[in-house]
Amino acid sequence: MTASAAAFRSVPSVMTQHAQPGLSRTSVVATQPRGGSLPTMDKVTVGPCTLEERDGEMVSLTRWWREACAGTGRLVLVGGDAGAGKTVLVEEFGRILGDVRLLRGSSEPLTTPIAFGPLRDMAHSLSPPLRQKLTGPADPVEARHLMLDELRGGAGPTLVVFEDAHWADEATLDLLRFLGRRIEACPAMLVVVYRQDEVGARHPLRVLAGDLAALPVVRRLTVPMLSEAAVARLAEGTDIDPAELYRRTGGNAFFVTQVLGDGRATVPPTVRDAVLARAARLEPGAREALDALACLGTRAAPWLVEAVSGRAADDLDACVDRGLVAADDGAVAFRHELVRVAVMEAIPPGRAAALHRRALAVLGARPPGEVEPARLADHAERADDRAAVLAYAPPRGTTGIHAGGSHGGRGTPPPRTRSVPGQPGRGPGRPPGGTRPAVSSRRRPRRRPARPAGGRRGVAGGRRRPSAGRGAGRAGDHRGAPGPGDPAR
Ligand SMILES: Nc1ncnc2c1ncn2[C@@H]1O[C@H](COP(=O)(O)OP(=O)(O)OP(=O)(O)O)[C@@H](O)[C@H]1O
Ligand SMILES: [Mg+2]
Repeated sequence: MTASAAAFRSVPSVMTQHAQPGLSRTSVVATQPRGGSLPTMDKVTVGPCTLEERDGEMVSLTRWWREACAGTGRLVLVGGDAGAGKTVLVEEFGRILGDVRLLRGSSEPLTTPIAFGPLRDMAHSLSPPLRQKLTGPADPVEARHLMLDELRGGAGPTLVVFEDAHWADEATLDLLRFLGRRIEACPAMLVVVYRQDEVGARHPLRVLAGDLAALPVVRRLTVPMLSEAAVARLAEGTDIDPAELYRRTGGNAFFVTQVLGDGRATVPPTVRDAVLARAARLEPGAREALDALACLGTRAAPWLVEAVSGRAADDLDACVDRGLVAADDGAVAFRHELVRVAVMEAIPPGRAAALHRRALAVLGARPPGEVEPARLADHAERADDRAAVLAYAPPRGTTGIHAGGSHGGRGTPPPRTRSVPGQPGRGPGRPPGGTRPAVSSRRRPRRRPARPAGGRRGVAGGRRRPSAGRGAGRAGDHRGAPGPGDPAR
């Protein structure tokens, strides 16, 4: 029995575990309120949780919901990276609860924010006075009090979901602050869902979370990445190498399901669109820093990115604030390899070549032995600098550091496994991007047909590395292992 399954047992009046051979799913017996201001706690059997590795989160949510039903309201902050699976987790929780009063609204990244955006989504389920207020420019004080009445009222316990709160308008943030201080007396659970990778140090939601932190009603939940084992289960029946899929996606549920749904060994258009939408919101300087990092590899020293992009540290910080890259042990790194590939593929060829030329100049000027020659050869090839390629490329057949590297430059030894089918050439003349059919996949992807004979495919540009596994996506997965003192370390 897993730890989370054991945790289910610890709340026996709420949930019971039903063994399901071959599945890591959990059937749930959830308390369901019926009428009255405080519910009678009937047990209602509902279906299995269809999500991978979310048993523990379901246990926590159910426990807090139960407390809310008993009259002690809760405000739950549900954070996680973009695509970690926050929305489906909360949706699944609502589904498991069954017929409860559920109010749900989302914030959006509007240039001109609309006050109380999420409340407006919920309007049809709100009481007439509040609904009336929301038809025009609502008086914030009045709207806040009406919403509190709504949750205190006799309609039974209420689950209120504020989706994508990292985009919340100011009126909504104030509403959450107001309700957070008063929810304890209400049979209600507020679930505030947000991308924690978009909530930088100065983000208003972070300020709000800080303000609420000391309140006894506040609970936090972080939706983690999927494990390698879960990714492997999702990839069952496909011809995609699960270890490679995990390495490229870091277990990000959205990326994993999109790659599986796309069925190709390239960056799915849905992933590319999601990444480029986020990148498009960067200021031009930050975008230049991002592009430089994409050309340098999955991770690099900040000074190197600054030198290659010609941008200041602030620009790189903006990329971190937007969650596209993370500060990682003295370096900056893309959070997922697929993000790097998507960014890199969107750089126009001329600009990419210029960035590689600059990288070659900066890295080539480092003390001898600091930067691996194959790394220099790779930049040289992408900059179309033939003389430099010849100067740095190791003789063919030697064991170069590029074994398993994703670029396949001339300095790369012959691949140990076959190239990725459907993968465009990686030479310097390759045009960026490419058109692929749109794919939309929600929830767990359907099992794909058994893979054909001939092995599994790699993912999004990488040659399959038989030994690739957890942690393999760090320094060296893109450019080969950095040399001693290499700025990518
Ligand atoms: N635990 C899981 N098991 C299987 N698939 C999952 C799981 N979590 C998420 N997914 C899949 O990943 C996709 C993305 O999930 P979801 O939309 O919930 O992410 P999110 O964190 O809300 O993303 P965003 O930050 O963009 O709103 C879902 O459509 C679903 O297919
Ligand atoms: Mg979401």
